[in-house]
Formats: sequence, structure tokens, C-alpha cells
Amino acid sequence: MTPPKRKPKIHIGHQGTLGDPFANLADDVRQGLTKTPKELSPKYFYDAQGAELFEQICELPEYYPTRTERALLEQIADEVIASCRATTLVEFGSGSSRKTRILLDAMAHAGLLDLYVPIDISEDILRQTAHTLSDDYSGLRVHGVIGDFEHPVATLSEGGPRLIIFLGGTIGNLTPDEATAFLRNVGRLLTPEDRFLLGTDLVKDVSLLERAYNDAAGVTAAFNRNILSVINRHLDANFVPDRFEHLAFYNREASRIEMHLVARESHQVWIDALDLAVDFAESEWIRTEISCKYTREMVETMLAQAGLHLVRWDTDQDHLFALSLSESVQ
Ligand code: AVJ
Repeated sequence: MTPPKRKPKIHIGHQGTLGDPFANLADDVRQGLTKTPKELSPKYFYDAQGAELFEQICELPEYYPTRTERALLEQIADEVIASCRATTLVEFGSGSSRKTRILLDAMAHAGLLDLYVPIDISEDILRQTAHTLSDDYSGLRVHGVIGDFEHPVATLSEGGPRLIIFLGGTIGNLTPDEATAFLRNVGRLLTPEDRFLLGTDLVKDVSLLERAYNDAAGVTAAFNRNILSVINRHLDANFVPDRFEHLAFYNREASRIEMHLVARESHQVWIDALDLAVDFAESEWIRTEISCKYTREMVETMLAQAGLHLVRWDTDQDHLFALSLSESVQ
């Protein structure tokens, strides 16, 4: 007798034709390091080491977003699932999917849980998470997508009604124009039954914000410098990370934290795969990340510009972080 055929529960694929999210690294690095001021995309923080450092950041006493968002999710998960009856959960930038479990639990308790579609740039974490979740939630299908969150079109075809989530304040890595363009793509993909849950970090006391990106243990500094190790490894470069200082500050006009790496002395770096010499003056910066902070009004405006309508807004009592639930404007 042949054993019964089982539907594959786990499937991991690349995003459409985009393939490896690090495929554009060479072009991006050449562009970013030959312009003034120099710049690198924060998506390149997340090799295996960077993803691990980010997990450590989430546990830091100074880094309030993760625990605040988790508490909010615990408060609202059952109500959100009861209101949208989602059977599919799609997550941009899923990372370790730790907070996601709160929503998966709510879906399982409601007897709705069928499919989880995590989308993440970090392949190792994605595979590991897919297997752990598939073990922990019986019957759950996991269709992971290796890719960055800026190209969501190909990934949202299955299942429904769907809850699409983008947590952690990661949308803050995008400029307001980029964020609106991203949200517009999401808005276009939402059916009338689908809902979109977005986590945003809020404008607040500057010292609280700056402490979150300048932790005493130096984990954020190590995370910041790790982007240079990523370039060394992938592009055969000879960056010495310790020749750069970690700098993170709040830019009030732009309503965002900026992270930079500042050359401690003038020197030259060779990037072999690009055949490129990069000169640094003393104190010259590479901007490695922006992390935009929002007010409720800013979030609602962005959503409205993207054809999304806010149906629920939740924040903690100190107004540190917010979750907004929205639907497509029909
Ligand atoms: C993952 C983009 C939400 O901006 O707070 C944490 C990344 N950088 N500490 C953030 C980050 C430095 C984080 N996001």
C-alpha cells in the first residue's frame, strides 16, 4: 500500500523574479558609497549575524517598541480576528515571527487558522521559523517568501479573508513618499474582506527616542557596524568596522531617527567586487538607516493617500507605539 499523499505544509520560495534579496547589493553599494553624503540601505543589516543582533536589540531595556507592540497585540488580537475572521496571515518583514504567534494563537482559538505567509529578507530565520511554527501549530500551512517588503505584488494571491500585517515600526525605514507608495501597493491588493494591521513608532520625547538607538550595552552600535561586515563578505571589501563610530540621533524636521557610521579618521576602503576605492574624510558619515516616527494624523493621512481607511487605532497609555487596522476604501 502506498502511503497517502500529504499536501506540503511548508513551502519557501523567492519573491517572483527578484530572487536573492542581496542580488542588488553590489549596485546599491556602488551607488550609495559614490554619492555625497554616503548612504547604505538598512535592508543590508540583516545577514544571519545582523538578524541575531536585531533580536538582541528587541530585548534591550532601552528599546521599547518590541515589548510595547507585543502588549498591544495581546490586548487586541482576539477582537481583531473576531472582526475580520481571517484564515490567512500575511506578514511583511516577519523576522523571528515571535509577536506573530499572538495573532496565530487568536486565529487558532477562533478555529480559523489555515495559512501563514511570512515575507523576510533573512533566509535562515525564515526557514527556521517556518519549521518551528509548522511544528507548533497543527494543520498550519506556511508559505514563506524570501524577499524584501518593497515588492509585495506577487506574494498576496492566496487564501482569504486575509490579515496582512507589517509590525515593529519597520515602515519607518521608508521615507514618507516611499511609505505611501508601499501602502498604495498594499491597498491595491486588499479585497473588501482583507484587513491591514500596521505597527508604527510614535513621535515622543527626544531623549527616550535617542536612548532606544544608543543602548548602554552597545548592541545597536554593533548592529550598525555589522553592515560593513556584510559588505566585506559579499563584495570582498576591506572595511575595518572599528574605524567607524556609531551615531544615532533624532532629526526633528524629518521626524525620524537617523543612524550613521562616522569615520574616526580619514582612510580609504577597497571594494574588490566593485573594483572601487572609497575615500573617507575624517568625520565623514555613511547614513545607514532612517526610522520615521509618526503621529496618528500622519498615519491616517498616509493610509488615506494609499486608499486605505482606518477602522481601529490602538496605542499604549504612554503613547509610545501604535497599531492601526485599516481596510480598502471601496
Ligand atoms: C526594524 C526598522 C523597526 O527602526 O527601530 C533598531 C531597526 N535599528 N535599532 C527600528 C533598528 C536600530 C528597527 N526597525
